[in-house]
Amino acid sequence: MNEKTRRRLPNRHDLAPLMQFKKPELNATKRRLDKALTIEDLRRIAKRRTPRAAFDYTDGSAEAELSIGRARQAFADVEFHPAILRDVSKVSTGWDVLGAPVSLPFGIAPTGFTRMMHTEGEIAGAHAAARAGIPFALSTMGTTAIEDVKAANPYGRNWFQLYMWKDRDRSMALVERAVAAGFDTLMVTVDVPVAGARLRDKRNGMSIPPALTLGTVVNAIPRPQWWFDFLTTEPLSFASLDRWSGTVAELLDTMFDPTVTFDDLAWIRSQWPGKFVVKGIQTVADARAVTDLGVDGVLLSNHGGRQLDRAPIPFHLLPEVVAEVGGDVEIMLDTGIMSGADVVAAIAMGARFTLIGRAYLYGLMAGGEAGVDRAIAILTDQVERTMRLLGVTCLEELTPQHVTQLVRLAPRQRAGE
Ligand SMILES: Cc1cc2nc3c(=O)[nH]c(=O)nc-3n(C[C@H](O)[C@H](O)[C@H](O)COP(=O)(O)O)c2cc1C
Repeated sequence: MNEKTRRRLPNRHDLAPLMQFKKPELNATKRRLDKALTIEDLRRIAKRRTPRAAFDYTDGSAEAELSIGRARQAFADVEFHPAILRDVSKVSTGWDVLGAPVSLPFGIAPTGFTRMMHTEGEIAGAHAAARAGIPFALSTMGTTAIEDVKAANPYGRNWFQLYMWKDRDRSMALVERAVAAGFDTLMVTVDVPVAGARLRDKRNGMSIPPALTLGTVVNAIPRPQWWFDFLTTEPLSFASLDRWSGTVAELLDTMFDPTVTFDDLAWIRSQWPGKFVVKGIQTVADARAVTDLGVDGVLLSNHGGRQLDRAPIPFHLLPEVVAEVGGDVEIMLDTGIMSGADVVAAIAMGARFTLIGRAYLYGLMAGGEAGVDRAIAILTDQVERTMRLLGVTCLEELTPQHVTQLVRLAPRQRAGE
C-alpha cells in the first residue's frame, strides 16, 4: 500500500448506494429459472429435476449421437461479419411465415411424449407460444388432444405434425380434427420409415408410461417433485392413440408405415386445405422433388439427430437448398439450435423460419410453463442482441454476407471429381 494514501472513515452517504440488497425471490421456480442465462443452463437444471429415463429420452439421439453433435458444432463454427455505425436502437424480429405473421423467427417443434418430461406438457408450450406470438406444433405422438391445444392457444398459430401410420384412416381422422380445430399448417414428417436406435432408451429400459422398477425408484429419490406431479395429475395418454405400454421403439415400429412414398405425400397434400410443410428433408434432390409436388414449405431437419446417425447437417445443406428451391417455397430449418445466434445465422443464410425442439423441452423440464417462457426469453434476447451487434434492424436485412460457415469436416475428394 502506498504510504501516502490518505485514509478516512466511511460515512453513511458513501455506503448507501453500495448496499443493494435485493428483495429475496420467494417463488422457488422463478428463483431457479432466473439463474439460467443460456439454454445450457436450463439443460443442467432439467437434468437435476427429471428422472433419468425421461431426461435421456429428450436429450439423447440415435446410435453414437454424432448427428446432433455435428449440427450444434456447425452453429458454433459460425463466423459473423458485423456492420458498424448503424442505428440499431429499434429492432424488429417478426415477419410473415407461410402467409401469416410470427413475432420471432423460431417456433416450437413437434415433440412426442411431452407430458412425460413435465406434466404441464404441450399446454405449457402452447400457452408460452401464444404469449410470444410464435407457432406451436403438436406432434402425432403428443400427449395432449388437438382440441385442448387449440383451447390453450386459441388466437395464435397451431400446426399439426403428421406421421403416416399403417392405419391410414386413423391418421387421416387426426388430420380432419386438426382442420376442424383451425390448425393452419400441416407438417408431414418423412424421416421416420422406422424408429432410430435410441440407445440411451434401451439402456434405461425406458417405457411408456414410465415403469416403477427398482432402478426408477432409486433414481426418483432426489427428484420428488417430478414424481409427485406425475402421480397426482391425469395419466399419460396420447393426442391420437389409445394408451400404450411398451418401449418407444416398439410403439413407433408398430405404428409407422415404411411403405409411404411420394405418391402418398401428394395424396395427403390434396386432403389438407391449409399450408403444407414436409419435415425431414436432407438432400437437395428431395427438396426439389417435394417442391415440384406443390408444398408450401420444406423443413431441413435430421430430427434432432434421433433417426439416421451421421446425417447431413441441416445448416450446411441450407445454402444449396436455398439456391435450388428458395424462389418456390419457404425453407425452414431445425436441429441443433441452442442459441438465438444460431437462429440469426440460419435466417441470414436464407431460412425463413426455424424450430426449436430440445431448447424448449429443457425449459419445460426445468420449470414447466415458466421454464418454457424462460427458454423463449433467453432465445429472444440473443436474437435481438445478435441482430443489433450485426448492425441490422429487421430480418430482411440479414444476408449471407453476415455469415461465414467455418467447416471442420470437409468431404474427401472422390476419384474422378
Ligand atoms: C424428445 C423429442 C421428441 C420428438 N418427437 C417428435 C415427433 O413426435 N415428431 C416429429 O416430427 N419430430 C419429433 N422430434 C424432432 C423435433 O421436431 C425436431 O426436429 C428436433 O427436436 C430439432 O432438433 P433440436 O432438438 O436440436 O432443436 C422430437 C424431438 C425430441 C427432442
